[in-house]
Amino acid sequence: MALVTSKEILKEHDGAVGAFSTYDLFTAQGIVKGGEESGLPVILMIGQPPLNQPGNDYVGQIMVQLAREATVPVCVFLDHSKDYATCMKAMKLGFSAVMIDGSHLPLEENIAITNKVTEAAQALGVSVEAELGALAGIEDGEEAKKAKMTDPSHVEEFLSKTSVDALAVSIGNAHGLYKGEPKLDFERLNTIEEISQDVPLVLHGGTGLTLEQFARGVAIGIRKINIGTEVKTTYIGAFIDTHEKNVSAYDMVGIPQACKNAVTAMVQDKLEFFARGYKALI
Ligand code: 13P
Repeated sequence: MALVTSKEILKEHDGAVGAFSTYDLFTAQGIVKGGEESGLPVILMIGQPPLNQPGNDYVGQIMVQLAREATVPVCVFLDHSKDYATCMKAMKLGFSAVMIDGSHLPLEENIAITNKVTEAAQALGVSVEAELGALAGIEDGEEAKKAKMTDPSHVEEFLSKTSVDALAVSIGNAHGLYKGEPKLDFERLNTIEEISQDVPLVLHGGTGLTLEQFARGVAIGIRKINIGTEVKTTYIGAFIDTHEKNVSAYDMVGIPQACKNAVTAMVQDKLEFFARGYKALI
């Protein structure tokens, strides 16, 4: 159907849209198919390190091509770029959205790099996501987590000095597998939502959060949810299971197909919950 920007998807959508990390042809195909099976828009994303691996421009090209041919709206997204050059590279590859992550920088510098990327992106009709407050590390204790959370007093200044299409927040969420039960600061999210008004909010670190946490976040105003690690555990889990069923086959045709199908099922499930299923839990 279409390669669309994140701005188009997030503004029109009821509930939240899932964004899933891509590493190669098979994860990309599995994710797009998950969107098609659910009849919902999907965000196909790749991080800065995998996109910058030698030869992986081709993965970027494949992502754009799959989006163009998909039967549902697909946004092709560069996730967590720390620099301007990778954002430009993604835009040249035809991506429809980029994230410039200046969350590790002082506020003024985060604003400056975000504006530099936004100026180039707007000229090309590409959406921009920024981040305020750094994501906690999975090893961080409660105090360290709190110190890194999005400071609501920065949100108004950041949004008034930039023109981003989405804002990622840090409310106790972390990348990777959580150690113990993750705790999200929904009060903080509520305050940020009131300040940010119609700028869609993004929740990173989706792997390991409970359905109740997703539902509460979406009810408050989360419009995009990132899932990365679960793509990897799903894919590699299916790889090991399929290989172990017939070890001597070294089935380089059947194994990737099984992995792809497992990713499709996971993505379909998540998209449906983020768009509709969450309502049953609020
Ligand atoms: P997880 O790997 O924890 O799902 O987080 C993914 C993410 O937020 C990518 O930006």
